Amino acid sequence: MDVREAVATRYSCRAFLPTPVPESTVREILTRAARSPSGGNMQPWRVDVLAGARLEALKALLRPRMDELPKGEGTEYPIFPKDMSDPYRQRRFSVGEQLYRSIGIPREDKPARYRQYARNFEFFGAPVGLFISIDRSLVLGQWVDLGSFIQTVMLLARDCGLHTCPQEAWATFHRTVAAFLPLPSTMMLFCGMALGHADDSAPINSWRTPREPLEAFANFSGFSA
Ligand SMILES: Cc1cc2nc3c(=O)[nH]c(=O)nc-3n(C[C@H](O)[C@H](O)[C@H](O)COP(=O)(O)O)c2cc1C
Repeated sequence: MDVREAVATRYSCRAFLPTPVPESTVREILTRAARSPSGGNMQPWRVDVLAGARLEALKALLRPRMDELPKGEGTEYPIFPKDMSDPYRQRRFSVGEQLYRSIGIPREDKPARYRQYARNFEFFGAPVGLFISIDRSLVLGQWVDLGSFIQTVMLLARDCGLHTCPQEAWATFHRTVAAFLPLPSTMMLFCGMALGHADDSAPINSWRTPREPLEAFANFSGFSA
């Protein structure tokens, strides 16, 4: 698969088949993803990979936690700004509408929306769950490096015929996850990521998010051709 196709076919997959993914495949994806650039070549990523019984054990741990704390444990970093202005607010609103519409959940059906949100904590049925963390001593520059690492993982997954969903939702249960893995106290959980084979028959995988046209975000000057 060439890079263009990997970029064009990546999307946030929210329904996976139970088909297992071999450990060797995940090892290869992560080994190659470590070629991602990072300021000063600091390589500020840590990844914990769960499958099989370990993954099931975490999911089982989460179920009662979600009943106790439907909104989670609070986050260690702000996932979104408190006061979101347009166009960001509108884009975020509209992706939520698209998502719930695709599975026939009306806006006012809060319990059904919550049940779908809670699927995050089952990795949407994926056979592999990754957790991506960063050292607490690092700063904004390294968080950006983490983002480029995450995108490289997602594109390499496409090259293996796999799909992904990056999941900041997991950061809302950072305490439970950190204790389970366990993560050293020096590390902060940034996000989870579901990895596996897409269920192409699932309506939630049947739509794609829009993007703004090039003119909306890029300025060019000085070109002669
Ligand atoms: C860092 C990051 C965290 C995300 N967290 C979640 C999440 O917790 N749950 C979810 O369903 N989607 C999550 N998403 C997916 C975004 O909603 C998605 O990338 C965006 O709507 C664009 O759609 P696309 O990925 O299908 O192109 C996350 C994406 C990123 C980059």
